[in-house]
This record gives sequence, C-alpha cells and structure tokens, in this order.
Amino acid sequence: MKGFASLLALLPLAFAQTNGTNGIGSTPSQRSYISSTQAQTIITAAIKNATAQNIPQNIAVVDPSGLIVAFLRMDNAFPGSIDISIKKAKTAVLFNGLSSGQLYESSQPGQPLYGVQETNGGLVVFGGGFPVYYDGKLIGGVGVSGGSVAQDVKVATAGVEGLGASTSPPS
Ligand SMILES: *[C@@H]1O[C@H](CO)[C@@H](O)[C@H](O)[C@H]1NC(C)=O
Ligand SMILES: *[C@@H]1O[C@H](CO)[C@@H](O)[C@H](O)[C@H]1NC(C)=O
Repeated sequence: MKGFASLLALLPLAFAQTNGTNGIGSTPSQRSYISSTQAQTIITAAIKNATAQNIPQNIAVVDPSGLIVAFLRMDNAFPGSIDISIKKAKTAVLFNGLSSGQLYESSQPGQPLYGVQETNGGLVVFGGGFPVYYDGKLIGGVGVSGGSVAQDVKVATAGVEGLGASTSPPS
C-alpha cells in the first residue's frame, strides 16, 4: 500500500514529462524543442546507417540550447568519442545552426574564429554535428563520433533524414 501510494505520488511527474506542466511554465508543444520520441527516432535511424557501414558510433541528440535529450553508445564505439559526439551536437545549435564542420576553416590558426573550440566548455569544429530542422524550425542538434569524419557525417545525416527532418534551414 505504501509502495502504491508513492507510485501515485510520481504520477504528476510522469504527466509533466509527457504533456503538461502542472500549470508551471510552457509545454514542449508550445516550444520548438525536440521531443524524446523524436530524438529516439534519430538515434534508431543513425544506428541503422552505422550498422550498415559496419562502424560502431556514439550518437548524441541535444535540444536547441545544447542540452542532451538522448544518447547512445553502440557496442565497441570509442569511449573517447562519447564527449566528442555530445560536443558536436552542441556546437551545431550554439551558432544558430552552423554545422560543426562549417566552423572548421574559420577556427584554424590565424583565422577569425581561432579558439572558438575553447569556448562554451569545449566545442568540436570538424564534421559530424548537424542542426535538426523540423517543420522549418531548429528543434535541436545531432552529433556522431566514432568513425572517420565522412562516416560520422553520413550517420548523422541518416539520423536526421530518419525523422523526416533536415540539416538545412528552410530557404
Ligand atoms: C497533450 O498535448 C496535446 C498537444 O498539445 C493536446 O492536444 C492534448 O489535448 C494534451 N492532452 C492532455 C491530456 O492535456
Ligand atoms: C547512410 O546515410 C547516408 C546519408 O543519407 C547515405 O548517403 C548512405 O548511403 C547511408 N549508408 C548506408 C550504408 O546505408
């Protein structure tokens, strides 16, 4: 009975996570934030592509603020790439949707954004991090790390495509 009562106490929390807020603040449907279900869809599609390429990957999905929504490390993916995948995803949303690879040239020594990777607690300025545009809105970012940059780019792209989303803003 006691256990049941504490389960009941958790119900409002479960409700808040899925749809409501108990009247506090706005709900995800009132914002343009990626949902956990959408993040999972991206990860599933990315895994499928990584498996077809035979490369174990770390896949991270963040909201438009760069905070993590979902993450998966495939069996045998480089542990050192966990952090890289998360930072790629974060990088792709912190500059209004510039992909991590788009920052590469300008962050080289002598270039205008040299050192940008040292900001925001650490960013990653090579390919594999993309913004996620859904219904024309930036809803989050995806970062993939564990293969070559070309493989990471493909896996991240496949993830975004799996959601029916785009890595480019609406024209
Ligand atoms: C949950 O959110 C959807 C989308 O905003 C809304 O249509 C639905 O009525 C909500 N459900 C409840 C129980 O509030
Ligand atoms: C992975 O996804 C990319 C991007 O859509 C695609 O070009 C490539 O063919 C896919 N690779 C495999 C092995 O499915």
